Amino acid sequence: MRPSYNSRAVVTGAGSGIGRAFALELARRGGEVICADISLSRAQETAALIGTDAHAVVCDVARREQVEDLALFAELTFGGPPTLVINNAGVGIGGKPVGNIGFDDWNWALGINLWGVVHGCETFAPAMKAAGEGGFINVASAAGFGAAPLMAPYNVGKAGVISLSETMAAEGVRVTVLCPTFVKTNVAVDGRITASATTIADTLMRITGFTPERVAADTLNKYDRGRLYVVPQIDAKVIWRLKRIAPALYTRTLGLLGRLAPQETHELTGV
Ligand SMILES: NC(=O)c1ccc[n+]([C@@H]2O[C@H](COP(=O)([O-])OP(=O)(O)OC[C@H]3O[C@@H](n4cnc5c(N)ncnc54)[C@H](O)[C@@H]3O)[C@@H](O)[C@H]2O)c1
Repeated sequence: MRPSYNSRAVVTGAGSGIGRAFALELARRGGEVICADISLSRAQETAALIGTDAHAVVCDVARREQVEDLALFAELTFGGPPTLVINNAGVGIGGKPVGNIGFDDWNWALGINLWGVVHGCETFAPAMKAAGEGGFINVASAAGFGAAPLMAPYNVGKAGVISLSETMAAEGVRVTVLCPTFVKTNVAVDGRITASATTIADTLMRITGFTPERVAADTLNKYDRGRLYVVPQIDAKVIWRLKRIAPALYTRTLGLLGRLAPQETHELTGV
């Protein structure tokens, strides 16, 4: 059984990057896909790339009532609950140490990156459980266990997504949590990331980043095999193992490397 084939799927943040790649790959696998995004025009672009088996809707995942509306729309469109929900929508934030971040940025980042996934899981789970089928792919990041300096809101949100996914798996839900390092998307330019952190992220993304298409296909294949964790890149796998073997040494070394990085001026780029 390969549940990513012929699915009735909902993908959040489907208007760009990894979300768009998930939507296109699901359609290639015979699925009908609801492409949800905070930007309707981006969602429509993805749906247009797919054709008749796609639906574009606007949904800000940070807003619980909009996720509840998304679940109603899915129920009506599919004639039942989805068989796959991909909680993918997320934003980049980085470049400031704790104490200089400000609660506005904390709220913004956690509202989307953590609460967005909580909204998706809590809202869709009951009908899927009642139907006796279906599962989730939650998009976290290697940042969720890597804990790199100057990225606290991002790290905390993604750690929460990993923990939520692990808990759901322990409760018997089919769930896969995706934890990549860099993927070639708009996440750095669209986020609240300081200028020097954007330069670092852009460079690493260009040199080490996988394509979103590769990450999406690999994740769906692993979801089909029932894998909880997808850690696609070699650098993410190294971080994953080091953190488990020698957590204190890992954190000290990372802190040292962080202090060698160029110091920040704290002005924002992007949104
Ligand atoms: N690109 C990377 O290097 C990388 C690495 C690890 C994890 N991720 C995660 O992958 C996921 C997808 O990001 P991406 O890299 O494809 O970025 P992206 O910026 O290319 O795409 C993100 C999409 O989410 C949408 N979005 C933003 N806020 C939203 C909201 N409140 N509600 C609904 N949609 C919203 C945007 O409009 C955009 O279409 C995110 O959760 C991100 O944190 C990305």
